[in-house]
Amino acid sequence: MKDLLRLRTSLTEEIERVLNEQIKMEAEASSMYLAMSAWCDRNGFDFSAGYFKKQSDEEREHMLRLFKYVSDMGGRAVSPDISGIQIEFDSFRSVFEQALQQEIAVTQSFNRMADKCMKSKDFVTFTFLQWFLKEQIEEEYVARRALELFDVIGEEGTGQYEIDKRVPKITYEDTYED
Ligand SMILES: [Fe+2]
Ligand SMILES: [Fe+2]
Repeated sequence: MKDLLRLRTSLTEEIERVLNEQIKMEAEASSMYLAMSAWCDRNGFDFSAGYFKKQSDEEREHMLRLFKYVSDMGGRAVSPDISGIQIEFDSFRSVFEQALQQEIAVTQSFNRMADKCMKSKDFVTFTFLQWFLKEQIEEEYVARRALELFDVIGEEGTGQYEIDKRVPKITYEDTYED
């Protein structure tokens, strides 16, 4: 019976499971960015609040992209159960530190997933993951540049105000496109 059920999808149980774990991770990232947006908004960092809101929307798009793939492949996409998202942050800078840590964790997760796909010879999913692996270059770049503003500009005087203003202006130049 179990084998028959597997005919619905060419995804192995393990790959289906890690894809669902990633769906949850993207949903958590989306919620986390929204929490960061709210914190920035409450503390007078309007531009950063807008930046994190945008990041939150993007993470939801990532989640939906994975969700659609699992469904398209005949698998069982699981709507994630998210709880315990933090509300408070230690400082303006710490919000950006956590954002970068989160992006690095996502990159590592996709690397582990790609490795699993290779090992189980799931080249369909491996190819699907390429978009995300490439996207993480930009995600990490922008998060790292934002955090660097704290050292480049400094937080004294009107520093935090300047940093806030510059955060949404960070752009990533994709020179990998042909
Ligand atoms: Fe993402
Ligand atoms: Fe991201």
